[in-house]
Amino acid sequence: MSDKPFYITTPIYYPNGEPHLGSVYTTVICDVLARFHRLNGQPTYFLTGTDEHGTKMAKAAAVEGAEPQVLADKYSQIFRDVWTELGITNDDFIRTTEPRHKAAVTRIVQTMLDSGDIYLGGYEGWYDEGQEQFVTETEAKTAEYKSTISGKPLVRYSEPTYFFRLAKYVPKIIEYIEANPRFIVPESRRNEVLSKLRAGVDDLSISRATLKWGIPMPHDPAHVIYVWIDALTNYITALGYASGDTGSGDAAGTALYKKFWPGTHVIGKDILWFHAVYWPAMLMSLGLPLPTTVAAHGWWVQGGKKAGKSTGGITTLPEIRAFSSTYTLDAIRYYLLRAAPFGSDLEWSPDELTKAFNELKNVLGNGLNRTLKMIGSYRGGLLPVGKLTDPIDHALAEKITALSTDVRSAYDRLDLQAAVMLPIDLARAVNGYIDATEPFKLKKDPDKSDRLDTVLALSAQAMARAFIALLPILPTKAAEALAQLNVNLDGKTFDDLMSHDLPAGHLVGEGKPLFPNVEKPKA
Ligand code: MSP
Repeated sequence: MSDKPFYITTPIYYPNGEPHLGSVYTTVICDVLARFHRLNGQPTYFLTGTDEHGTKMAKAAAVEGAEPQVLADKYSQIFRDVWTELGITNDDFIRTTEPRHKAAVTRIVQTMLDSGDIYLGGYEGWYDEGQEQFVTETEAKTAEYKSTISGKPLVRYSEPTYFFRLAKYVPKIIEYIEANPRFIVPESRRNEVLSKLRAGVDDLSISRATLKWGIPMPHDPAHVIYVWIDALTNYITALGYASGDTGSGDAAGTALYKKFWPGTHVIGKDILWFHAVYWPAMLMSLGLPLPTTVAAHGWWVQGGKKAGKSTGGITTLPEIRAFSSTYTLDAIRYYLLRAAPFGSDLEWSPDELTKAFNELKNVLGNGLNRTLKMIGSYRGGLLPVGKLTDPIDHALAEKITALSTDVRSAYDRLDLQAAVMLPIDLARAVNGYIDATEPFKLKKDPDKSDRLDTVLALSAQAMARAFIALLPILPTKAAEALAQLNVNLDGKTFDDLMSHDLPAGHLVGEGKPLFPNVEKPKA
């Protein structure tokens, strides 16, 4: 247990369409982390939201024949509603068109102007409108003047612009990344960022004179602030930084900011550069602490290419809903986390989803059901006292003891695949233990009554631990299972729950199937 505050953020999504697998994936990862840290007793703050300014939004609105604000209002609300529908436990939802954000961004940019970190110049070069990203001549040439993400032609910009003195901060950023191995994960991405930084980086254009849809530059409203500068600050403006609220804090920010910053950003690998370079440079300019961790996950791909709204091949929200109604929402969460090690690319596979569901049903559902049914019919539902006598008991008991440390360490390393698989492995071991010890045979021999007690008690303890560890991942199903085991979760932390055995004589509930019978998947 720890009482260290934990702040976790998703990227803020462009509200130009419904959420899809890509955004659902990131948001579920953050939700699992938020739930784990809450269960761990830590004050936890989980932020998500929508990134509503910029060329991409302006163009998407033009295509729909709507004002950008109208498009943003519509889809931002859809994002908010979908997160509620999917049981996401975010504490706040920030929109970059909200007055609280706009006012704070203006103050932040003003501070950077005042310190001399922003100067007026001119930009002549390439821009990837889909990624809202400036592209150097060399990069543009290598990519044949097309976006490396969407394949769409790069756009030539030639306009006056304000620059941020990014180059000045590059040596400090390199130093920081080198000194903090956990700042960028996974390690392969960290190395990529370092080599790109070492190759040299120019100052960053941070305003657009040819775009109207954005936050005006303070003192020069003919320019709007570059959408990434606007967007990245959301992580602190949502906490009240630069809100001008001196009531609960001081000029630097509110109590929320003081309590929760710095935090952990979970993002897709395509937006790592912004988070690992631009954002730290901005924070350095403001004299603020850098994020604890920037964790870049892989892409859902199809045919080796990033799947997405513009690139195609992405699993849509209606498809996710159909799978969820067949298999349960918890099974989808499980599938997303177990599909690949954090950081690797993934490919959506209905077969793998079926496999993941069957694993939950057979390993967890059946393991629990067998255990509860046997305790019910052999011991009137009362947990017997077990004595570890055989090597097989000791082997299972060791696994039970190891689970809490192993799961905690997996969360600390952001090895979410291990965090989800470890409890399943324990449940699998329980099934193996029951198969090997054959309690239904022990039941027939009165001399084996002690042995039967041990098998029943140990199986129940192990299943309880597995479900406790699964609470962040399967919030509904693990809670249902623990209710069947009659485990009281109220106000208990991960450590409280993981360090206590169920007492002898504990009355367990009736075993009811945890997962639905699925004949044929609908989708
Ligand atoms: N608005 C910016 C983020 C600003 S954060 C200060 C943005 N938005 S986005 O809506 O285009 O993408 C949001 C996130 O979704 C990114 O992390 C991106 O990597 C992720 N994904 C979009 N498509 C994806 C896949 N196919 N697979 C995995 N993640 C994907 O970028």
